[in-house]
Amino acid sequence: MEVIIVGNADQVGQVAADKVIENLEGVATPVLGLATGSSPLSLYAELSRRAKEGIVDFSHGLGFALDEYVGIDPAHPESYRNVIHRTVVEPLGMDPDRVRVPNGFAEDLQAAADEYDDAIEAAGGVDVQILGIGSNGHIGFNEPFSSFSSRTRVEILTTQTREDNARFFNSIDEVPTHCMTQGLGTIMDSRVAVLVATGEHKADAVAAMVEGPVANVMPASILQFHPNCIVIVDEAAASKLQ
Ligand code: F6R
Repeated sequence: MEVIIVGNADQVGQVAADKVIENLEGVATPVLGLATGSSPLSLYAELSRRAKEGIVDFSHGLGFALDEYVGIDPAHPESYRNVIHRTVVEPLGMDPDRVRVPNGFAEDLQAAADEYDDAIEAAGGVDVQILGIGSNGHIGFNEPFSSFSSRTRVEILTTQTREDNARFFNSIDEVPTHCMTQGLGTIMDSRVAVLVATGEHKADAVAAMVEGPVANVMPASILQFHPNCIVIVDEAAASKLQ
């Protein structure tokens, strides 16, 4: 695991964009794993800027979102289908037909989850997985005590995560209770993982992920075993590293 500490969120986005592009060099059809949430926004903004300048081209790329709420109306502005479209597909110039989000509205959720894993495999696997980290150490929506070998599946969101995400809704009661998420095993299959985190509220989770024991009480700690994981954090998020 490589840890890079920079001054602020904009620099996190710039360095993360360098790493994403570096690791896609020579890849004819890049396959991106896509996180939602606030953390990767500066990265997506930077990738968008470079795509518009012609430095990089995502139009033939494939994308797989990490997760989706279960039962949320797909038309809801905070469904991850819409968030990914708004913050990634359009700004990066990706083809919407080549970017998938787990189907949290499927009648048979586990069948939809299995099909999602199959689609990632059929695409040849994820080249670069973009990740944030929850204040409780989740990646994707793999909450504490998720199995390290888990694949895409339905998970119950913890109260902590629902409270953290209530800012995107009118009240916590509107935050869905369940999600469909790529598993830790799915994430670990990515060739490169780029995790970004900013702010003091992430400092405990970042320290535990990087320096703590590898234990599923802290799901992100499994990334210590990832063959090529780059963690890019601002000084506040790095403040509890030894
Ligand atoms: C969302 C996801 C989550 C977030 C995490 C941090 O797709 O994968 O793991 O990355 O909850 O969220 P923010 O960045 O909003 O603090």
